[in-house]
Amino acid sequence: MRCRYCMPEAEYVWLPRESILSFEEIDRVAGIFAGLGVSKVRLTGGEPLLRHDLPKLVALLARHAALNDLALTTNGILLGREAGRLYAAGLRRVTVSLDTLRPERMAEFARSQRHADVIAGIDAAVAAGFGSVKLNTVIIRGYNDDEIVDLLEFARGRGLEARFIEYMDVGGATGWSMDQVFSQREIVAAIAGRYGPVRPLHQSTWAPAERFALADGTVFGVIASTTAPFCRTCDRGRLTADGTFLLCLYGERGLDLRELLRLGADDTAVAAEIAALWSARTDRGAEERAELAERGVLHRIESLRADPRREMHTRGG
Ligand code: 5AD
Repeated sequence: MRCRYCMPEAEYVWLPRESILSFEEIDRVAGIFAGLGVSKVRLTGGEPLLRHDLPKLVALLARHAALNDLALTTNGILLGREAGRLYAAGLRRVTVSLDTLRPERMAEFARSQRHADVIAGIDAAVAAGFGSVKLNTVIIRGYNDDEIVDLLEFARGRGLEARFIEYMDVGGATGWSMDQVFSQREIVAAIAGRYGPVRPLHQSTWAPAERFALADGTVFGVIASTTAPFCRTCDRGRLTADGTFLLCLYGERGLDLRELLRLGADDTAVAAEIAALWSARTDRGAEERAELAERGVLHRIESLRADPRREMHTRGG
């Protein structure tokens, strides 16, 4: 898939294969993070199911008792084939990206003909027994802002939670402009226009989505990272496929864990480096972006080519 908000360019620079962490290396890093207090791991991308034998990685991660919340974000295309094995391996939560219910829109917007496979993937996840299946929809003005109610109906009909995401100016979004951002306020208004008053739910977790309920109890979420950033409650770190530990989705530089691992550092030494970096963390990338008077694209294509780790698809949405 080549979604316009994430991979709009014709050509990309890919990370060299030997730079990609092996499952054993990812598992080791996950264990070190677990030792530092991490309990949740989300496999995201890019597209995690493009990685051969992903359920094997899930099974490795599931052996860490402290990692009690294993989740996956996927475009859904290969999910129909893998949902059962992922569940059997210990995965418990799946989020599928679904931006439109119209195959012809997906063909144009994401250059993919596989809409039916995505829907089949969603249904397979429900059938496999996942207790939590969510749908992620990036709303872009003039593209799919007319589908908010349809997507909510689709989710509601299947008992899934819909989450609407504001278009973000993250690395890779080289076509971003503020006028295409359909705000949380507009999203909620569109839904209230159809269903009547929408009630905000009080949050007890540090989840990025603000959740709302319709009168009949249907719950949906909005991720308002562009107009109402949640940096203050963000507790997420990110590990790129090639082992760079990033403190923020907008972060410029990270800690090269792969080098540490491959140079033979022991777990205690790696943990110390991670802890030192994390405890000095001051990142508030989305808030800094929101404070700009003139807001345009974050990175130009030349800068992304020079360091593909700046791409959203390498650091995970
Ligand atoms: N703005 C908002 N969401 C984005 N995603 C990818 N790029 C962007 C962007 N520019 C979302 C995807 C996916 C999640 C991992 O990140 O739609 O659901």
